[in-house]
Amino acid sequence: AGKGLKDYYKNYFPIGVAVNMAAISGPQAALIGREFNSVTPENDMKMGLIHPSEHQYNWTKADAIVEFAQLHHMKIRGHNLLWHNQAPAWMFRDSSGNLVTKQVLLQRLKDHITTVVKRYKGKIYAWDVVNEAVDDSADKYLRNSLWYQICGEDFIAKAFEYAHEADPDAQLFYNDYNSEIPSKRDRICRLLKSLIDAKVPIDGVGMQGHWSLISPTPARIREAIDKYAALGIRIQITELDITVRSKQPANGAGVAPLPVDSGYTPQLAQQQADRYQSVFKIFRDYKKVITGVTFWNVSDRYSWLDSRGGGLAGGAAAGGPAGKTIVKAYPLLFDVNLQRKQAYWAVTRF
Ligand code: G3I
Repeated sequence: AGKGLKDYYKNYFPIGVAVNMAAISGPQAALIGREFNSVTPENDMKMGLIHPSEHQYNWTKADAIVEFAQLHHMKIRGHNLLWHNQAPAWMFRDSSGNLVTKQVLLQRLKDHITTVVKRYKGKIYAWDVVNEAVDDSADKYLRNSLWYQICGEDFIAKAFEYAHEADPDAQLFYNDYNSEIPSKRDRICRLLKSLIDAKVPIDGVGMQGHWSLISPTPARIREAIDKYAALGIRIQITELDITVRSKQPANGAGVAPLPVDSGYTPQLAQQQADRYQSVFKIFRDYKKVITGVTFWNVSDRYSWLDSRGGGLAGGAAAGGPAGKTIVKAYPLLFDVNLQRKQAYWAVTRF
């Protein structure tokens, strides 16, 4: 009766979930404890939130999530140590507002990573060290972030080295989205290979897994896992959700968004269950190289996608609804009343 997802998958990999304070203190808390054996803080360890000014750290929420996980004997994935997004403005500027030098920025990065990783040493078993550093366009390689503008590509290797020094036992990951799209996959492989060749301490790659009913195809997912595994590193699915709203075709071109929330119909429930079953079939087939699968949020009651037009190809920027429009994505295994969905039964019955 008390059986949860984690129990169905005990011979495969930990089943994780991204959480925030509302999730661990509200009605979803009991469900989290019953179903999952790993947590990732959705936002509360990101640089801008945990380190808002040079001499100030905000540990309260991150600590609360770590305590919750320990109380429930769950693993913890740290997310993340370096990202272009949710990075604090002070990090890149001196007191006159000018961009700092590479030397100053790397010293600040080292201080940040050392402080955060040491605080949770022995508690956080895996870190997303660098998040989304590869560019989305086929003719570019690394994203032109402030990290890149100031440091060139060195910041990536340095981040891994600092994290490894601070906790030699933590598993260190590079994490990215659209990591199954062949051209981006190949750029991610190029980055991973350059790190591995340079003996940088990296253990694995996070495939985020923000997917839809039709994209990416199962073949693309398998190909990507094969390519990453061929580099000799581990793979985790770090941010899985499958929106029912996106109509984006597999090639990423052309979008036919549903402009309003048209609900969660029995037909969508069936399609989503089939889709979840097919991706979990892949994860199970690859259990030797996949060492974790984490969902991005707990239940359809709250998904980060809901305020992003349900995940309609980037919302307003791509011609979908404006960023703040709520279009529910229904992307998870539990419904708005926290009950198990058809998709839940589809991934537990093989
Ligand atoms: O904290 C402020 C709050 O004070 C304010 O009142 C409110 C008003 O909008 O905003 C709050 O900040 C929001 C923050 O989440 C915390 O809730 C930001 O606006 C919002 O942009 C931010 O979104 C997060 C997003 O990362 C930022 O890009 C999502 O919750 C989070 O799920 C999402 O997670 C990312 C992963 O870290 C990396 N991969 C992609 C994934 C989805 O975008």
